[in-house]
Amino acid sequence: MTRASVTRQFRACHLAWLLIFLFSLNRWALAAPEVAASELIVVADGIPATLTPEPGDASRGRTIVASRQLGLCLLCHSGPIPEERFQGNLAPDLSGVGGRWTAAQLRLRLVDPSRINTHSIMPAYYQTSGLNRVASAWRDRPLLSAQQIEDVVAYLVTLRQ
Ligand code: HEC
Repeated sequence: MTRASVTRQFRACHLAWLLIFLFSLNRWALAAPEVAASELIVVADGIPATLTPEPGDASRGRTIVASRQLGLCLLCHSGPIPEERFQGNLAPDLSGVGGRWTAAQLRLRLVDPSRINTHSIMPAYYQTSGLNRVASAWRDRPLLSAQQIEDVVAYLVTLRQ
């Protein structure tokens, strides 16, 4: 083995360790503290504390609400999302919901509507316990992540009329 190839191997090895180190740092950053469903604190009819350290993003929230894969909100609700043609009429129109409810109240409605109305047909978007007949893919996983809940709350509070 020549000296040059030993140096090259040494460098490659260092690079690999550097990548592993950076990757684990990234993993650590992604695992920023978010509140698990079982640790949420309900005060009156709301959850005042945000579920994530990062604030919600209203435009991402709008995408989730409009989405037929993620939120599915428009299956039951209608809302100010004119590009979606087929909207539901099983639930109140989301227009003006930010004027009717605070962020804390909206957060609890999304996390677990049965805390407000025990017979609600609205899914609990951030609960993993106390649910019936959960599809295996969703067992122990909430329908939306903590960040997605915050994004939807950020969008809903902008709906003031
Ligand atoms: C399967 C039907 C269904 C789906 C899907 C659904 N909801 Fe609901 N939602 C309801 C019903 C019904 C109510 C009325 C209160 C109740 O019965 O719980 C409601 C109430 C609400 C309220 C309170 C509205 C008010 O004016 O009082 C908000 C806010 C809300 N839903 C947001 C959402 C969002 C955001 C999504 C998607 C992430 C969603 N809902 C998905 C059925 C649904």
